[in-house]
Amino acid sequence: MTSHASATDAAPDTPRPRRSCLAVPGSNPRFLEKAQGLDADQVFLDLEDACAPLAKSDARHTIVKFLNEGDWSGKTRVVRVNDWTTEWTYRDVVTVVEGAGQNLDCIMLPKVQTADQVVALDLLLTQIERTMGLPVGRIGIEAQIENAKGLNNVNAIAEASPRVETIIFGPADFMASINMKSLVVGEQPPGYGADAYHYILMKILMAARANDLQAIDGPYLQIKNVDGFRDVAQRAAALGFDGKWVLHPGQVEAANEVFSPSQEDFDHAELILDAYEYYTSEAGGKKGSAMLGDEMIDEASRKMALVISGKGRAAGMRRTSTFEAPEA
Ligand code: GLV
Ligand code: MG
Repeated sequence: MTSHASATDAAPDTPRPRRSCLAVPGSNPRFLEKAQGLDADQVFLDLEDACAPLAKSDARHTIVKFLNEGDWSGKTRVVRVNDWTTEWTYRDVVTVVEGAGQNLDCIMLPKVQTADQVVALDLLLTQIERTMGLPVGRIGIEAQIENAKGLNNVNAIAEASPRVETIIFGPADFMASINMKSLVVGEQPPGYGADAYHYILMKILMAARANDLQAIDGPYLQIKNVDGFRDVAQRAAALGFDGKWVLHPGQVEAANEVFSPSQEDFDHAELILDAYEYYTSEAGGKKGSAMLGDEMIDEASRKMALVISGKGRAAGMRRTSTFEAPEA
């Protein structure tokens, strides 16, 4: 279950907000300092592609120091390790989790291709947690889908461990792996005329929803083009994705906005929940469906309203209208 109450609880029970997931190179202390002051829901300290091979070893220790000594309050704290086809993964995990496991919420595993790659990380985390006296199972896993094999296996990957919290689309590596004819990450390849990402995004979203996980869209590299970022983010949000990576302070606010419900939708959802509760009660006539203004509401409306309301509440929204039961 993708859930969490506070950064250090052993038994998470409410969804962690992940509207904006900020990438920070683990080898760059200046960026690691700055990231703490940004309004991102999640921060991930990167040991993979934003960290040069020769810098990875020092970066592990830099990350441990920043996790232990930095102020990450209000943020989900994640470290992206290198993928299992490299020689770095085990040492990334051991150094970071032994050094800062109590100040870390999830490990992000890139380029996941099979369920057993997730199982391998789960087993390694369990051993480290036991050795270090940390609560076993608290550290979650975020699985990045970045090639055709990973996408084909995405359901099994999502089911591979109770630690899995999110499935993430990695567009840059994915585009390269399928030979997509474009170098502009996240934008549509020229000459196709439809949404080239629809199948990939939907497949990831279905695997996530079927397993009660969050679905996260990856990076948009044209960092100066906030309108372009917003368009791509909106595409994922419209389908039901929970958030998107941000690479630059300018993208944070746009992501938080796009992945939060509008005030109007939030108010509407809260009204539906109150009205449905009233009409199904003794006082409201124990009805299975009822009218809210011109709109008929029923159990399915309540479920849809719960999604919007849950996202709004997680984003700290407050309702601006209240339900009034009709005069008896
Ligand atoms: C992110 O890792 C990507 O490849 O897009
Ligand atoms: Mg990648």
